[in-house]
Amino acid sequence: MSDPLLDAALAVRAHAFAPYSKFQVGAAVEDENGRIHTGCNVENATYGLTVCAERIAIFKAISEGVRKFRRVAVAADTDNLTPPCGACRQILWEFCGDVPVTLVNLQGKTETYQLKDLFPKAFDASYL
Ligand code: THU
Repeated sequence: MSDPLLDAALAVRAHAFAPYSKFQVGAAVEDENGRIHTGCNVENATYGLTVCAERIAIFKAISEGVRKFRRVAVAADTDNLTPPCGACRQILWEFCGDVPVTLVNLQGKTETYQLKDLFPKAFDASYL
C-alpha cells in the first residue's frame, strides 16, 4: 500500500539541486494536521553552504507557522537506505522530537527508526 508521505519524499527528490555530488535526496514531514511539507537538497558551488533535504522541508514548514510534526520520510537512490546527517538529526529533534523516521529508496524498500535511536542523548532546550 502506498504512503503519501513516502510518495511525497520520492517525488520532491526530483527537484534536488545536486550538480556537485549528483546525490539527490527528498524529504517529507507530516504535521499535526496531516499536512505534508517537502524539501530537496540544495547544493552550492562553495559546497559548505549546501542544505540537506530534511532541513529544507522542516524550515519551509516552520516558516509557514507549523510547530508540531508526527513523522518524517527521507528518499534517496541507495540500496543501503540513506539516513539523515548529524546536523539534520539535531534540527529534526528540535522541531519533531522522538518521531518515526522512514527511509525509502526508488525500489520502495523502507526502514523506520525512532529519532531517539538515531540521535541518542540529544542536546535540546531541556538543558538550558
Ligand atoms: N543529503 C541530504 O540532503 N540529506 C541526507 O540525509 C544526506 C545528505 C545531501 C547533502 C548533499 O547535497 C548530498 O546529499 C551529498 O551529501
